[in-house]
Amino acid sequence: MPLVDMKDMLQHAYDHGYAVGALDLVSLEFLEGILAAAERARAPVILSLAESHFEYFDFELMLPAVEAAAKRASVPVAIHLDHGASIESAVRAIKSGCNGVMVDASHTDFGENVRVTKRVVETAHACGMPVEGELGYVPGVEGEDAERHPGEVAYTTLAEAKAYVERTGVDFLAVSIGTVHGHMKGKPKLDYQRLKQINEALAIPLVIHGGSGLSDDQFRRLITNGVAKINYFTALADVAGTCIRANARADRTSSYTGLMKNVQEAISAEVESRMRLWGSAGRAAEVLTRCRSWMPVEHLIIYNVEDADETRVEIMMAEGRRVLGGIPGVREVVTGKAVQQDAKYRYTWLVRFCHPAVIDNYRRHPDHVAFADRMFRPLAGERISIDFQTVETIFSVRSHHDMAGGERR
Ligand code: 13P
Repeated sequence: MPLVDMKDMLQHAYDHGYAVGALDLVSLEFLEGILAAAERARAPVILSLAESHFEYFDFELMLPAVEAAAKRASVPVAIHLDHGASIESAVRAIKSGCNGVMVDASHTDFGENVRVTKRVVETAHACGMPVEGELGYVPGVEGEDAERHPGEVAYTTLAEAKAYVERTGVDFLAVSIGTVHGHMKGKPKLDYQRLKQINEALAIPLVIHGGSGLSDDQFRRLITNGVAKINYFTALADVAGTCIRANARADRTSSYTGLMKNVQEAISAEVESRMRLWGSAGRAAEVLTRCRSWMPVEHLIIYNVEDADETRVEIMMAEGRRVLGGIPGVREVVTGKAVQQDAKYRYTWLVRFCHPAVIDNYRRHPDHVAFADRMFRPLAGERISIDFQTVETIFSVRSHHDMAGGERR
């Protein structure tokens, strides 16, 4: 179960002086390439999905694949919404399976940035989830991602950084100290002094956007000064593009599969080299033992109804799916009816929460209270309920036999 709490993951990196890669993915080649690299390097990794890339893939189709890949990985993984534009984006990401969200209101003025970020923090924290905010502005200069970040650089100031973190409660801060999204023009000059002061004042994991194109030395100095998460995309898109062009030159008749040959491996090699440089390589086992795993909670109710026809029950269930499914932190609402006519209990709800923190917030949420009072309780009679997490402990055959009282013949 290698989905881990992202706050714990980045705190571990921050405390131990290394940075975790937040690799933006736009296809399955990226997803598989990134995870293969993390497995080879034994590195914790953040699978990052940027809202600005949603025109390249269907977020709701991609997330189940990302989640499945994360769950079968043997290294610690977090799934992060990158550059979320609004509270609605954050709620959707939480519902879809992210366990960390970034809200990016860095293009707005300080007051508006605080207002938007604070709302996202309140909602995400109620779902047990950490938030990254950005202060100052990291623009794009050229390359695939540049046009998505128009405008001029604005450096993060120390005074604003302190006030922003205090007022919003963000868990990680993305700073602007001279990096750019997309390709660099020349060698960027990074303001390490500014970074150092921000780090000393805030003492929380810092984030660098626009990782592509920095030198090894620049990365090392960033990490020394509190950077625990490095966002990286353009360089991966570039190695993929180079690979596709080489395939096209090698065989001008190539079609899709021919053109995509070795793309995943090229992405993977680039990611692995970054993990080794950033110091996350070799940290997987430690992170898995020290960080909380990220596990959903299933809220199960089985019940009977008194004096109600099937149509009324079905209307109540449909309304419940709609209303309860919209509460932040609720991932899915399943309603059901027993197959056997003579079952002791005839009906069921299964509500999936992304995190145990959601249990109490869900119970108190006005939409839940109104639905329960007006529609559910008047119909439902006898019922039992449980909030549970799946148990996935695997005993070896030997210890199982020992527990069962020795060998069975
Ligand atoms: P690059 O594309 O410059 O690597 O930046 C990625 C990034 O910051 C995504 O948030």
